[in-house]
Amino acid sequence: MENIIKPKVYIAKKISKEAEDYIGEFCDYDKWDSDKRITRTELLNKLGDKEGVLLSGIKIDEELLHHASKLRVVSDASVGYDNFDLKVMKEKNIIGTNTPSVLDNTVADLIFGLMLSTARRISELDNYVKDGRWTAEDDKNLFGVNVHHTTLGIIGMGRIGEVVAKRGKLGFDMDVIYNNRNRKPEIEENLGVKYCDFDLLLQKSDFIVLMTPLTKDTYHLIDFAEFKMMKESAIFINASRGETINEQALIEALQNKKIFGAGLDVYEKGIVGSKSLLLKMSNVVTLPHIGSAVEETRNDMSMLAAKNLVQALLGETPVNLVSELK
Ligand code: DGY
Repeated sequence: MENIIKPKVYIAKKISKEAEDYIGEFCDYDKWDSDKRITRTELLNKLGDKEGVLLSGIKIDEELLHHASKLRVVSDASVGYDNFDLKVMKEKNIIGTNTPSVLDNTVADLIFGLMLSTARRISELDNYVKDGRWTAEDDKNLFGVNVHHTTLGIIGMGRIGEVVAKRGKLGFDMDVIYNNRNRKPEIEENLGVKYCDFDLLLQKSDFIVLMTPLTKDTYHLIDFAEFKMMKESAIFINASRGETINEQALIEALQNKKIFGAGLDVYEKGIVGSKSLLLKMSNVVTLPHIGSAVEETRNDMSMLAAKNLVQALLGETPVNLVSELK
């Protein structure tokens, strides 16, 4: 029988068995087998003889590629790929892929969870009941604000932005406005959402949902000046990347009651530090970056990442080759 040499790959995060078996059909693989996330140093040690890697979130830069001189393909099992140093990857002809689409509805559900939880103070009041502080007194101090029939401003009208807009428009009768690099006439027509100037969106929205990818243009997109433009009743939601906002500006806006509250799935320094003032504020809902954290969705992401990896290693153009590396 012909002895086919399979490309060597490293699977640097837990993926579904189905995805692992798929990779095994085409590649000779080694994998990270712990529930803890692999560290960058541990990864560097594994990549010496590998042509492909499946991972998520680890910076792919000059240093890593120096340790991985055979590497040709990086398959990221996430939609955001701000961990790619695109310039270096382009120079070195490294193929980079991501996993869009399969997580859109899951992330959109979470965004609505953050909106509802912040507006109706759900996590704060859950603690209130569990702490035994609920008495038969008047409930005026438990009031929240409505989500339905308010104005939802979406910054970043990509695939996830679109499904958030759909939920807002059809499920909650919201007036949906958006800002994006390019206008999306089809979405405007299909969903009845309106394009809006960036500053005006900040001024008009009751809920501001930030969904833009992190790039050099969107770093600190929402800073002191932007929080100042928001309504005092505004609720700010970030489920994109932490560095798209200046977290200190958010903290000050919340402390000075310049906005009503915030729902966060991401933080400027990755994992939010236990000393962060955000953790002390009852009008902030903090989640540990769980946008896509549903087994079914993660399995779909694993399979897509596996297919991207194999396709690229077999010399085909992977379906989810990131646009900057095309
Ligand atoms: C991603 O995949 O980039 C998102 O952060 C999911 O939460």
